[in-house]
Amino acid sequence: MSIRRPVVAGNWKMFETVAEARVLMSEMLPGLSAIRGVEIVICPPFTSILPVAALLEGTGIAVGAQNMHWEASGAFTGEIAPPMLAEFCQYVILGHSERRAYFGETDVNVNRKVKAALSYGLVPIMCVGETLDENEGGITRQVVSRQVQDGLDGIDSAAIPSIVIAYEPVWAIGTGRAATADGANLVVSDIIRLELSERFGEANAQAVRVLYGGSVKASNAAEFFQQPDIDGALVGGASLKATEFVPIVKAAADR
Ligand code: PGA
Repeated sequence: MSIRRPVVAGNWKMFETVAEARVLMSEMLPGLSAIRGVEIVICPPFTSILPVAALLEGTGIAVGAQNMHWEASGAFTGEIAPPMLAEFCQYVILGHSERRAYFGETDVNVNRKVKAALSYGLVPIMCVGETLDENEGGITRQVVSRQVQDGLDGIDSAAIPSIVIAYEPVWAIGTGRAATADGANLVVSDIIRLELSERFGEANAQAVRVLYGGSVKASNAAEFFQQPDIDGALVGGASLKATEFVPIVKAAADR
């Protein structure tokens, strides 16, 4: 069993109006507030961050955003800056594969965002993972190593333990086809932690929480949490249902 404290983050993606978010939180909160020993993070769309943060005040459950710009302010129409998030959020998801695939997010920009998050006291949840083509082409190691290397380029070793990494194979996201638990663990130990260890030293590599994401649900979460190198989950679809998300968090507490 690992000494790393588990993290379970719910990525709501572009779902839930404020009215819907209030209903969902009222369904989840009784179950979630009873769970100890897990860092729980709710990541609503920007418009619901403030109301969700208000509902979560005093519960110990954290709020995260799903993206942000790296600059502190400026003429960047439509963007949200780190200090704006830092007023309400403790975490921010960065480099999600949907942002990489549909919005041109590059490793260079992910790196800028990770640095910006750290400088504003936000915990970055940096997402990495290979596509189906890359997986079938046998280049998972190259792709994931590069994402870790470039995403964390120039970051001081002392900051590494406060970063969270989510390994999300793109072919497993929203498809109902999760990776196998031991397959995911192998990528985390053999590629992600190895890369971290080479760059930032073994102690830092062992301190980083690495989550699995991609079709995690109540029925398969425990298998992932039993793996020695997987420290929690980044949950998409199943984070929109109290009957799924609460048992997933519970499984992380029980591991
Ligand atoms: P999923 O999404 O759980 O719906 O597969 C995970 C994610 O995109 O973070």
